[in-house]
Amino acid sequence: MTTADRRTAAETERDRQREEWALCSAAWRRHRRAFTDPGRAITEGMLRLAAPRPGERALDLACGVGNPALALAERVSPGGYVLGLDLSPEMVAEATAVAAEEGVPNAGFRTVLDEGALGVPDGAFDLATCRAGLQYMPDRPAAVRAVRDALRPGGRFVAMTLGAAERCMPFRLTNGIVARHVPLPPVAPEAGPGPVSLSSLDELTGLFADAGFTGLRTEVFEAPIFEAPDPAAAWELFTETAGPFLKLFAALPPGTREAMREDAVRVFGEAFPDGPVRPTGEVLLVCGTKPA
Ligand SMILES: C[S@@+](CC[C@H](N)C(=O)[O-])C[C@H]1O[C@@H](n2cnc3c(N)ncnc32)[C@H](O)[C@@H]1O
Repeated sequence: MTTADRRTAAETERDRQREEWALCSAAWRRHRRAFTDPGRAITEGMLRLAAPRPGERALDLACGVGNPALALAERVSPGGYVLGLDLSPEMVAEATAVAAEEGVPNAGFRTVLDEGALGVPDGAFDLATCRAGLQYMPDRPAAVRAVRDALRPGGRFVAMTLGAAERCMPFRLTNGIVARHVPLPPVAPEAGPGPVSLSSLDELTGLFADAGFTGLRTEVFEAPIFEAPDPAAAWELFTETAGPFLKLFAALPPGTREAMREDAVRVFGEAFPDGPVRPTGEVLLVCGTKPA
């Protein structure tokens, strides 16, 4: 593959991601508490490693509707600020609206066209985060290098990805449901960038080491990914927010969609017979420091 082919492939992938996330940005804002509240252990784990302090300048790459940018904004107050960057202009608009709605004055959001060119001055940030974002990027090494360049010497970067689909209940259950009704490749590394396509801790830490980060610390633990009050609400949440599936769902005949929904209600109900649907997944965290 030539350099030009690789560039084209990456751009095609970014276009796909941009389209998929645009379709669900409003739903991510509407359902944000279904992710942020149960997902607090993940965000707290990231912030523990990155150790934000008042007055610091933080960068949050692939910020979605503001997780963890909004939590970071509180930790760097007073005097600090957060810049959230995302490929999707729709996500950026929703994050901006959430920050205004929640009265967070020190977080701003901006669109990036390419994870390797963040459009921020070198050395402008004390710390950076990327929560459930690197796995969707076609050029992860370039993304980690771009974050390194944005950090001052001594700056910290913490990234979070998910373990393989078998170790992430939301994808294990939904892959099974979807595959029973449509011939869709499961959400898996072979399918290209996606939720569980950066599931090896070695690969994740290798990206940091190759970019020159030092003092690497890692954590692997199981944590809730989302919570819904009942199986029907869990399926609704999934079908409205699962970027990679949305075009497929929209194109299905109503009968297939309804059969899938009934299947999902049964599967989620069997997995959570006694209360809310709160599936867990394996969480991978890595934190490194840019050398002085
Ligand atoms: C699963 S969401 C995570 C959002 C948020 N960090 C969270 O944890 O709730 C993935 C986000 O990655 C963004 N994204 C995908 N590809 C990207 C890229 N190449 N550069 C920057 N952001 C990207 C999407 O637009 C989406 O908002």
